[in-house]
Amino acid sequence: MTSPAVDSTTIDRILDEFGRDPLLLVQMLRRIQAEYGCIPPAARTQVSEALGLPPSQIHGVAEFYHFMSTAPEGKYRIRISDNITDRMLGNEAIMARFCERLGVKRAQTRADGRVSVDYTSCTGMCDQGPAALVNGLAVTRLTDDRVDEMARLIEAEAPLATWPREWFHVDDNVRRRDLTLRTEVEPGAALHVALKRGPEAILRELQASALRGRGGAGFNCAVKWKLCREAPWTPRYVTCNADEGEPGTFKDRVLLTSQADLVIEGMTLCGLVIGAQRGFIYLRGEYEYLHEHLLEVLRRREREGLVGRDVLGSGQVFEVSIHLGAGAYVCGEETALIESLEGKRGIPRVRPPFLATHGYLQHPTANNNVETFAQAAQIAVMGGHWFAAAGTEKSKGTKLLSVSGDVERPGIYEYPWGVSVRQVCEDAGAVGEILAVQVGGPSGAMIAAGELDRLVAYEDLPTGGSFMVFNTTRDIVRIAQNFAHFFARESCGFCTPCRVGTQVLRRTIDKVVAGHGSEMELGEVEEIGRIVKSMSHCGLGQTAANPILDSLKRFRDQWEDRLGTRDFVPDFDLDKALAEARGLTGRDDALAHLDR
Ligand SMILES: Cc1cc2nc3c(=O)[nH]c(=O)nc-3n(C[C@H](O)[C@H](O)[C@H](O)COP(=O)(O)O)c2cc1C
Ligand code: SF4
Repeated sequence: MTSPAVDSTTIDRILDEFGRDPLLLVQMLRRIQAEYGCIPPAARTQVSEALGLPPSQIHGVAEFYHFMSTAPEGKYRIRISDNITDRMLGNEAIMARFCERLGVKRAQTRADGRVSVDYTSCTGMCDQGPAALVNGLAVTRLTDDRVDEMARLIEAEAPLATWPREWFHVDDNVRRRDLTLRTEVEPGAALHVALKRGPEAILRELQASALRGRGGAGFNCAVKWKLCREAPWTPRYVTCNADEGEPGTFKDRVLLTSQADLVIEGMTLCGLVIGAQRGFIYLRGEYEYLHEHLLEVLRRREREGLVGRDVLGSGQVFEVSIHLGAGAYVCGEETALIESLEGKRGIPRVRPPFLATHGYLQHPTANNNVETFAQAAQIAVMGGHWFAAAGTEKSKGTKLLSVSGDVERPGIYEYPWGVSVRQVCEDAGAVGEILAVQVGGPSGAMIAAGELDRLVAYEDLPTGGSFMVFNTTRDIVRIAQNFAHFFARESCGFCTPCRVGTQVLRRTIDKVVAGHGSEMELGEVEEIGRIVKSMSHCGLGQTAANPILDSLKRFRDQWEDRLGTRDFVPDFDLDKALAEARGLTGRDDALAHLDR
C-alpha cells in the first residue's frame, strides 16, 4: 500500500499543539500515527525540519515503538492482547474470526486500507479478557458475537464513537481490600501534613514505614527521595511509572481509575519533599482510555490548589503532565522510561549514574511506581508505624496483587506481604487442580503445586503484582512458549545477548512445540537461558529466561513428553547465534567463558 498523502497544515497543527518541543517527539508521532495510520515519509521530513532533529532520529523513534509504523496500517487497527491468560480465554479463535469476517490476514493491512489485525503484548485486562485495542482503545470480554458486530461496523465505516459503550467498559474487579484500598485519605491531606511538618518529617515517616518500591525491584522509597533531595543541583523531577507492562499486572490500572487523586497526591508530596516543580505520569499506551480521566482529575486538583503554580497557598510549584507510551514493555524500565520521556527510543541507559542524581535531562529524578506514590501519600497522613505494622520483617505493609488465570474471581487482591500463594489461590477460587503459579509475571518465578505454602514477600517470592494461576489442563511448554514470544517481541535490540538470545529461545521452543525437539534442544535452551540471564544489559534480558529455566527445573517431564523424532531442518545456525550472543568467536569459547 502507498503512504497516505500528508497535509502539511495538519502536521503543523500537531507540532504547535506540542509547542514544537523536541522532548515531546514521541507524543507528536503518536498523534501523527493516529491521524494517518502510520508516520508517512513526508510527515517525518516535516517534523525533522521543524524540530531541527536529524531524519534518522525521527525514523528511529517511529520504528522503535510497536504502536507506531512507517508502513500504512488500516483505518481500523485491531490489536488482540496476547498474554497467556488471553490465550486461555480463546484469543486465537477471536483472531481467526476477525480475519475470516474481515477478509484480512494477521499482521497485514487489507488491500483497501480499511483494517489491519495483529497480536500485541498483554494489554492489562487479564481479569476481563480476551481483550484487544481498537485504534488504541481497550475493548474487553471479546466474544464471537462482538467480533461479528465489530466486523459489521468496520465494513460500514462506523466511527468508534458510535460503537456500543459497553464494549469499552473496564471493571475494577477489586476483591479484597486492606490498608491501601480501605483507607480514605482526603485530597490534600498529605500535602497539608507535608507543609506543616516539613520534608524531613515526611522522610522520617517513610523511613519508619520501610516502604519499598512497588514496581518490582523493591528499592527503599525514603532512601530514593532523600538521595534526590540531597543531590546538589536543580531542577529536580518526579516521574510516576504507570507503564504496567508486565504480563498479568493490572493493579495500577485500577489505582489510576479509582484512586487517581491519591496517586497524584503522592507525586505532589514527593515534589514537596525533594524540591521538584515538575512531575510526569508515564502512562502506558494501552491505557490511553484513562488519559482524559486523569486530565480531569488534574484539572480539578489544579482548581482546588492541590497541584499547579501554588500548592495549597504555600508558594510552591508542582505541575504534572501526562505522557503516553506507545507500546514498548522495555519503557517500564526506569532509564528507558526517561529516554522515552525525552522524546527518544526507549533504550535503557547504563547505570550508574542512577536516576536519583542523573534522571530526566540528567537532573535528579525520583521515579516511583503508581502504587508506591499512593502508599507514600497514605503514610504521610497515617504515619509510618501504621503501615509497618503489617507485613513481614523485610516486606512491610500491603501489596496489591492482580490475580488472573484459572480462578473463579480474577481481580485485585490486597494483602499484607507474607500471604501464602495457597491463600491467594483459595481466595480467588482456583478452578481445578493447580499445576503452577506464576508470581511476578514472566520475569518473576514459576512455582509448582507442591510449593503453594511459599510466601509472597521479598524474603521468598517478590512481585510487582502479577499472579497467574494455571491448572492441570494447561500445557507448561505452551505457557513458556507464550512468555518466550513476549520477550523476543519486546527486546529493544540494544545488546546482543538479549537481542539474539531471546530470538533463539523463542525459535527453539517453537521447534519443541512443533514436535521437532530432542534432548539436545532442552540442553541448548538451558545454556542459552543462562547466557541471556547473565550477559544482558538490563532487567528485561536478565529475566527473560526465567520462565523457561523455572519450568524446565520443575516440569521437565512435560518438556520431555513434547520431544519428537521428526526430521527437522534448522532455519538458523544455533552455534553461530550462541557465539554471537556472547560476542565471542565460537560456541565452545562462549560455554568455556560461562563455566569460569
Ligand atoms: C523490563 C522492565 C520493565 C519494567 N516495568 C515496570 C513497570 O511497568 N512499572 C514499574 O513501576 N516498574 C517497572 N519496572 C521497574 C522500574 O525499572 C523501576 O524499578 C520502578 O519504576 C521504580 O519504582 P518503585 O521503586 O516505586 O518500584 C520495570 C523494570 C524492567 C527491567
Ligand atoms: S537486555 Fe534486552 S531490552 Fe535490555 S537493553 Fe539489552 S536488548 Fe534491550
